[in-house]
Amino acid sequence: MATRKVREMGDPVLNKQCKEVTEVTPRLQELIDDMFETLYEENGVGLAAPQVGILKRVVVIDTTGEDPLLLINPKILETSGEQDGYEGCLSVPGKSGKVTRPNYVKALAYDENMEPFEIEGTELLARAICHEVDHLNGCLYVEKVHGPLVNTEDLRDDEE
Ligand code: NI
Repeated sequence: MATRKVREMGDPVLNKQCKEVTEVTPRLQELIDDMFETLYEENGVGLAAPQVGILKRVVVIDTTGEDPLLLINPKILETSGEQDGYEGCLSVPGKSGKVTRPNYVKALAYDENMEPFEIEGTELLARAICHEVDHLNGCLYVEKVHGPLVNTEDLRDDEE
């Protein structure tokens, strides 16, 4: 396992449509392992393959640091409600912006054995699933921000 370099906004790879995964090859398994390692190293909540330069529909999420979630070919089936809150992204370091997202998301995805499963999430998990699926479609959260992009550091000061 190794960490991979996280691509930053302005890198064209972040604006491309990713391809469906058809098979978890050893090479893809290595990508998945590296994505988790990179996610934990960077203290992120989620990471999508294009953020490490790979145009495949692979997402890793962990909203608590203890709940690793792999989503291959995730597809949002259902959403409801609304939440408005600050969001950040490892590809936009140091910045946050307010994005409205559904408060509940149900998605279909595949695991490392390419077995389908459904995942339901509310609040942060719902937000993370939407954010990461957007990455797979070449969309960064900054396109959806209302209000200014702020320094995450200033935000923390405000909350204290
Ligand atoms: Ni992101």
